[in-house]
Amino acid sequence: MKEYKSYFRAAIDAMSGYTPGEQPKVMDLLKLNTNENPYPPCPAVMDGLKDIDAERLRLYPDPTADKLRDTIAETYGYERENIIVSNGSDDMLTIAFRAFTDAQRSVACLYPTYSLYTVLAGLQGCPYIKIPLKEDFSINNDLLEKAAPANLLIITRPNAPTGNCIAIDDMRKICSEFDGIVLIDEAYADFSVDNCIDFVREFPNIIVSRTVSKSYSLAGLRLGFAIASPELIVGMMKVKDSYNVNILTQYLAELAIKDQKYLNKTLSKIKVSRTKLTTELKALAFEVVDSQSNFLFASPPDGDAEKLFKALREENIIVRYFPGEKTGKYVRITIGTEEQLQRLTDFLKKKSLN
Ligand SMILES: Cc1ncc(COP(=O)(O)O)c(C=O)c1O
Repeated sequence: MKEYKSYFRAAIDAMSGYTPGEQPKVMDLLKLNTNENPYPPCPAVMDGLKDIDAERLRLYPDPTADKLRDTIAETYGYERENIIVSNGSDDMLTIAFRAFTDAQRSVACLYPTYSLYTVLAGLQGCPYIKIPLKEDFSINNDLLEKAAPANLLIITRPNAPTGNCIAIDDMRKICSEFDGIVLIDEAYADFSVDNCIDFVREFPNIIVSRTVSKSYSLAGLRLGFAIASPELIVGMMKVKDSYNVNILTQYLAELAIKDQKYLNKTLSKIKVSRTKLTTELKALAFEVVDSQSNFLFASPPDGDAEKLFKALREENIIVRYFPGEKTGKYVRITIGTEEQLQRLTDFLKKKSLN
């Protein structure tokens, strides 16, 4: 066979790609590692699946997903011209990197934060500015100074994997003073007490990115959407793949977004479980970051999160562990059902007695 040599761009050879959380095939596992919602999607989605006419799949989907965009616009108090949809919010992030960054236009992100951003910067070949958070994962006073050279600033709110939120007044200051695009990644905002959706009315340089993966229990469907000024939407539309959201997703996501009552019901259950798990972990001497999301970032009493991660794995409980200077003391635990979290805390209590 002819000897292999790489034809990839140097940037691709140099990077390692994104590592998604484990998606195990074994059913007995308690999966608390990728922040999926433990409750089923709303009944309208379950019914809608049965109504799908397979013959429709012969046709391409609406490239601009107007019907779905109208539903999102109506639900969130905007116009169709303020909305763009994507194949999960990861696709929205790709669109933003392609639209706003290049070798001369850098991106600035918090640290720690969602690890996909560094991967996208590597792919795009844009400089990556890390803005370290304080020990307690709040922001430093020099955030705007550090971000200043960037063309795109990504603020993840609530942040991942830490779960906490930058104060809304600080967000307003960042949005008004940063000279560039501020993309607010609100993948977890439905679990929070507040959000930045209204900022789009105040600032022309803001993109608020959302997903149905977490709060709407539809991670498998792949739908993200962003709200921004019409000028930004027009530009981002040029960058996206023509048919980036398939027919089934356009149809089913619309049904889910229309059912805000069901959404709020599941959100309340998750928030109650989040409070309960926080209290229980603190009683076991864990340090727990104040969470506004559907997961907790928690450090065990001995600080050895890697050992805890492995011990849980042996019990068939998967959480997420991010080795690293600021993250290595913590595990990230997705809020599951009451029964699931009981299984987790029963094990932790037993372990603390040994
Ligand atoms: C902060 C953040 N943004 C975006 C995403 C991507 O979500 P999706 O592509 O499923 O919409 C995730 C997923 O874990 C996330 O944690």
